[in-house]
Amino acid sequence: MNLNLGCPSEKAQEGGYGACLLLDLARVQEILKAMVEAVRVPVTVKMRLGLEGKETYGGLVWAVEAMAEAGVRVFVVHARSALLALSTKGNREIPPLRHDWVHRLKEDFPHLAFVTNGGIRSLEEALFHLLRVDGVMLGRAVYQDPFVLEEADRRVFGLPHRPSRLEVARRMRAYLEEEALKGTPPWAVLRHMLHLFRGRPGGKTWRRLLSEGRSLQALDRALRLMEKEVGQEGEEENPHPKGHPEGALGLAREGV
Ligand SMILES: Cc1cc2nc3c(=O)[nH]c(=O)nc-3n(C[C@H](O)[C@H](O)[C@H](O)COP(=O)(O)O)c2cc1C
Repeated sequence: MNLNLGCPSEKAQEGGYGACLLLDLARVQEILKAMVEAVRVPVTVKMRLGLEGKETYGGLVWAVEAMAEAGVRVFVVHARSALLALSTKGNREIPPLRHDWVHRLKEDFPHLAFVTNGGIRSLEEALFHLLRVDGVMLGRAVYQDPFVLEEADRRVFGLPHRPSRLEVARRMRAYLEEEALKGTPPWAVLRHMLHLFRGRPGGKTWRRLLSEGRSLQALDRALRLMEKEVGQEGEEENPHPKGHPEGALGLAREGV
């Protein structure tokens, strides 16, 4: 259960939530304590380094101590200031990044977990931070091209299997079917799959079919197209030999 202390939008400011809460640490503590009492899962925060470019490392330490006292053990830090007069887009680009402050927090509070976030574009960059903190969060880079993380299972988690794009698409299809039974509109799932074949042959048609059709049937049409594309290209995309046991089992389990 995560408390958002990072959103700088006007709406958040009007509602008194998000980044502006960092101005009132006593209130943050009160909210966090109430959350910790109310739920059984860990309570985490997503925060900025501070506000209006006026943050100091000492102030950040003070904030972390206050939240830790309220029971927080995991801190996701978007490693820049929030400038409340700026748009949300500007707030993801303009205030300078200071990942080194998050690294330093980990040195100063080794018993707490820190996840650093902001402007991380590649697995290489993520691995650099992972030597210094407990986790990294990628937002835009992975949304724009999910396969930025194609080597993550192997290089971060030591797992041998690297799923192909088609395999991911088929598993997402199974997920979409499950969600549809609960009443989730297909587009709520499909919209996050638009960039799955980014930069690959057929990738633009994939995107068009999904965004025009917005249905399970449209996904099936797009899947058939990509199966043909990948068939023409050979299995180059998936480095594992045909019939890789884990992959085959995984798909069988999903009923695909
Ligand atoms: C379209 C969009 C929506 C976002 N919504 C949220 C949100 O609801 N809660 C949140 O904590 N951060 C939200 N963020 C911020 C991201 O979690 C992240 O902190 C930010 O994009 C910086 O990371 P990045 O440079 O890897 O994208 C959003 C970002 C984008 C681009």
